[in-house]
Amino acid sequence: MVITKAVIPAAGLGTRFLPATKAMPKEMLPVVDKPAIQYVVEEAVGAGLDDVLLITGRNKNALENHFDRATEIETTLQAKGDLEKLRRVMYSTDLADMHYVRQGDPKGLGHAVLRAKKHVGAQPFAVLLGDDIIDGRDVLLTRMIEVAQERGTSVVALLEVDPSQIHLYGAAAVDKTDDDDVVRVRGLVEKPAAEDAPSNLAIIGRYVLQPEVFDVLEHTEPGKGGEIQLTDALQEMAAEADGPGVYGVVFRGRRYDTGDRLDYLKSIVQLAVDREDLGPQLRPWLREFASGLADEPSSGQTIDEPGVGSSQD
Ligand code: G1P
Repeated sequence: MVITKAVIPAAGLGTRFLPATKAMPKEMLPVVDKPAIQYVVEEAVGAGLDDVLLITGRNKNALENHFDRATEIETTLQAKGDLEKLRRVMYSTDLADMHYVRQGDPKGLGHAVLRAKKHVGAQPFAVLLGDDIIDGRDVLLTRMIEVAQERGTSVVALLEVDPSQIHLYGAAAVDKTDDDDVVRVRGLVEKPAAEDAPSNLAIIGRYVLQPEVFDVLEHTEPGKGGEIQLTDALQEMAAEADGPGVYGVVFRGRRYDTGDRLDYLKSIVQLAVDREDLGPQLRPWLREFASGLADEPSSGQTIDEPGVGSSQD
C-alpha cells in the first residue's frame, strides 16, 4: 500500500489576517521568506507524497501561480546570471505534481476533504492543514504513513496542549499501544469546552486517511459551527466495532501555528533564529530588544481579539 497523494485544504478566507488577506490568500503570507503553503507542500514531498491536490476557492489564483513557471522573473535572473535567486524561483515550480479543485460552498473541513474524492480514488492519502507548520527537522508525516501502512488504519497527529487551549482543536480519547508514540483513538470531539474534553491531546493538522472516509463524509451531518467536520467522520470510524479503527501518532517535535496573528509572529521569529543566514544577526538583536522591552506598549495601541478560527476562516 504505497501512499502518494496529499490533499491540502486551502479555501479559507483568512479573515483573521484582514486587510492583508483582502486580495491575497492567507496561504501566501510569508513565513520568513517563503509562503506558508510552500512549507506544507515541502513537508508532503519530503514524506514521499509528490502528488498534491489543493482545495481552493475564489481569490486563490496566487497559489497556482506560485507553483507554476514565472518566465519573466526567470528570464531576468538568467540574464543577470543570478543563479541563486533563479534556483529559489524554480524550486517551487518543480517541487510537486500540483492539482487544484475548488471547494465551492465553504461547508467545513470535512466537505473540503470530500472534494478530493475523485482525485484520490480508492487509495489511502494524507491531509495537511496549512495553518500548521511542522519543523522540517522533526519527523511526523513519515511516521504516520508507516503506522497507517502497518495497521491498515487511518491515523491522526496528536499533540499534548495546555488544557486551556483544547477548545481550539479536535480532542481525542485514547488508549495506549505497545508503541510509545502510537495510541488507539477511542473517540474524538471537535473543539470541546475544557471541562468536556476527553483529554488534552489535540489533533494537529496532519491526517493519513483510508479512502472509506469519503463514504462516511458523504453522510456526515454539519457539526460544530454548522460545518461538516472531518473530526466527526473520524469519530464514526473510530467507533465502528468491526472496522480497522483510528490511531494517533503523538508528536513531540516542533510545530508552528500560523493560523492567528500572534502565533504567526512567534512562528516567524522561531524559524528565523535557527536560520543560518538570519539567525546569527537576529539572535543578539532579539536579546537586546527583549531586555529593553517594557510591559506596556509605548503607543497604547490595542489589538482586537481574533477569536476561535475554523478551516473555512
Ligand atoms: C481543524 C480541525 C481540528 C484540528 C485543527 C488543527 O480546525 O477541525 O479538529 O484540531 O484543524 O489545526 P480549524 O483550526 O481549521 O478550525
